[in-house]
Amino acid sequence: KILVLDFGSQYNQLITRRIRDFGIYSELMSHKVSAEEIKQLKPKGIIFSGGPNSVYAKDAFKVDPEIYQLGIPILGICYGMQLMAYDLGGKVESADDSEYGRADIEVTDAQAAMFKDLPDKQFVWMSHGDRVTKVPDGFTVTATSKNCPIAAMADDDRKLYGLQFHTEVRNTEYGLDILKNFAFGVCGAEANWSMDDFIDMQVDKIREEVGDKKVILGLSGGVDSSVTAVLLHKAIGDQLTCIFVDHGLLRKNEADQVMNALSRDLGVNIIKVDASDRFLGKLKGVTDPEKKRKIIGKEFVEVFNEEAKKMDDAEFLAQGTLYTDVIESGTDTAQTIKSHHNVGGLPKKLGFKLIEPLRSLFKDETRELGEKLGIPHELVWRQPFPGPGLGIRVIGEITPEKLEIVRESDAILREEIAKAGLDEKIWQYFTVLPGIRSVGVMGDGRTYDYAVAIRAVTSIDGMTADFAKIPWDVLQKISVRIVNEVDHVNRILYDVTSKPPSTIEYE
Ligand code: XMP
Repeated sequence: KILVLDFGSQYNQLITRRIRDFGIYSELMSHKVSAEEIKQLKPKGIIFSGGPNSVYAKDAFKVDPEIYQLGIPILGICYGMQLMAYDLGGKVESADDSEYGRADIEVTDAQAAMFKDLPDKQFVWMSHGDRVTKVPDGFTVTATSKNCPIAAMADDDRKLYGLQFHTEVRNTEYGLDILKNFAFGVCGAEANWSMDDFIDMQVDKIREEVGDKKVILGLSGGVDSSVTAVLLHKAIGDQLTCIFVDHGLLRKNEADQVMNALSRDLGVNIIKVDASDRFLGKLKGVTDPEKKRKIIGKEFVEVFNEEAKKMDDAEFLAQGTLYTDVIESGTDTAQTIKSHHNVGGLPKKLGFKLIEPLRSLFKDETRELGEKLGIPHELVWRQPFPGPGLGIRVIGEITPEKLEIVRESDAILREEIAKAGLDEKIWQYFTVLPGIRSVGVMGDGRTYDYAVAIRAVTSIDGMTADFAKIPWDVLQKISVRIVNEVDHVNRILYDVTSKPPSTIEYE
């Protein structure tokens, strides 16, 4: 395995990801880890990530200096290189201009291990304020650029390497090859890691941690908690009890789908609590979007808590926290970017020990894991669905009648999108009830009924999005079907805004 030490770069997670894609297990760890701990883990190599600090900053992130004595190859990227140079007696200075963006470098050492079999001239992605101005003893300069004379440095004897640019981003022409040269060439790692190994590793780990104790898990119906449930079930069987809170705001047939796949077919122990009336009761008369979200979140925790109390012998709480959730809620280096309101997220004070076996995985890895564990493809590859569910797709007050309109129209939309073969091409698609009523004519009569909006977007991560260009004929079919099959709808609108300035959801 190859360890990546986190110095706070926004790209740190990408490095681990790239290495795993090579078939080598990689994990991101806090830079506070000691050399002794690293030694125990026996990694083939270590990578220092970039970071926003200067090595001279008062609270700059440092590393246990013993790490350089372990004889394990180390690659420092950006801040990681500066730190290595600084720690080993080189010189780091702040440049007059910080450098951000594409730069052309020239490899100056034909034998350089990091640039093996790669062209002398290549373009890379730079993003730095400080730079190394003198390499430590034992190092040579292996690449230069106009603004950064020491763009790469190497000490082959000690197997220590530094790169001022970011190899992990796509804007570095040979970034992946350079990383491969380090992982396979310098470290001698082998490509023998797969999702099956991950399952075995986690199963062992869970068994060891849990022993013969009981675990509970809050199932939201989403992919992450479902995959966590099945993985835990594989490890500890009936020592796991899932509490599935059905808040009545799920999509059509969704609760049954989850119950069938997990409970009936895979044998996971699930207590399903039908709390629709309770949620709708609390939401009655509430129109403010934030208030609605807060009520749904709070109620979810309360219902879960009441059920959990009935199982007073449970010691552990399992959660489907993913790597991106870990990053977003802050690590040793990262600031909290946003506290995403996720109804699946339970407060720490419930008093359980936490188990989060997916903490090191990205969403698509989680989906791959889910399929390996036998969860059906359609369930695992479902589009994202917000914790507060259809509750934020009925604008204003939620009533059973309005929920029904959104649920039915959404089901028709999903069916037609799948029929058109677009279900895995469009990132997210759903219907919304904006609460507008308008005049229509049906048969010979005047109608005064609701308009339903279709929201469909393409996106990579939900942070930005563009509206999806669904073909007109598909839209037409959807429109005709919704108006004909869903009561109280006489108009269909198509949302053509991107994010920003809009958001994907309406509330
Ligand atoms: P917005 O509306 O902020 O949504 O553009 C971005 C993505 O996040 C989803 N979303 C949520 N997911 N809990 C979640 O788990 C929430 O409270 C929540 N709100 C929005 C939204 O569906 C979109 O994919």
